[in-house]
Amino acid sequence: MNPINHVAIIMDGNGRWGLKHKNSRNAGHKAGLITVEKIINITIKNNIKYLTLFAFSTENWKRPKSEINYLFNLLENFLKSKIEDLNKRNIKLNIIGFKKFPKKLNKLLIKSEKKTFKNKTLQINLALNYGSKLELINAFKNLAKNKQKISINNLSKNLLTKNIPDPDFLIRTGNTKRLSNFLLWQLAYAEIFFEKKLWPDFNERDYNKIIKNFRKIKRNFGNI
Ligand code: IPE
Ligand code: IPE
Ligand code: MG
Repeated sequence: MNPINHVAIIMDGNGRWGLKHKNSRNAGHKAGLITVEKIINITIKNNIKYLTLFAFSTENWKRPKSEINYLFNLLENFLKSKIEDLNKRNIKLNIIGFKKFPKKLNKLLIKSEKKTFKNKTLQINLALNYGSKLELINAFKNLAKNKQKISINNLSKNLLTKNIPDPDFLIRTGNTKRLSNFLLWQLAYAEIFFEKKLWPDFNERDYNKIIKNFRKIKRNFGNI
């Protein structure tokens, strides 16, 4: 049975769900947040220590301003109302991405990270304005600036995910089979589960089924 340390998720399909059920993409984002809370709980139940959630990519700035603002507002309200609870439950919030948000949100993100810094039950890595290509370019630039040798180890240490073990598996909901610039380096040996359901429809049973299937996979890492 494979141990599970780290699960990464591309939470895709909110917009389509919202359009289908409420004729509004933003309604899908709101519904998606409920799934996030459920998935956090199941992750803890399964004693998994790291959960990385792709919430906003460096490419998502191409979307209409109204949708971007809605997403950031949703996040702001979520943090304001839930950070105490997350902290009490010993959950650590860690942002991976290039913090370049409205000032108020930036402050709130930093405050939330500081508040939960020492927590140990689960570390949530929220990928916000995250893009793997930019992350890698920055890592190489750092190595060059500090005149460090280019090695796998040194590069890993200069990524936004430094000190975080690589994900054991990736789930992408929303019936799309691509990585969309997510953790390209870190997923080198991850198992990948593409899920047809849209993110707001993804539930405990679906997640547990993937966990169960993952545990049975023979992982080779190049060996036999
Ligand atoms: C993913 O859902 C969430 C974010 C990118 C914020 P989408 O908004 O991409 O939903 P679809 O893929 O358009 O249905
Ligand atoms: C990936 O979903 C980003 C997030 C889930 C935050 P997208 O919906 O942005 O991906 P593409 O554009 O369809 O590849
Ligand atoms: Mg999408």
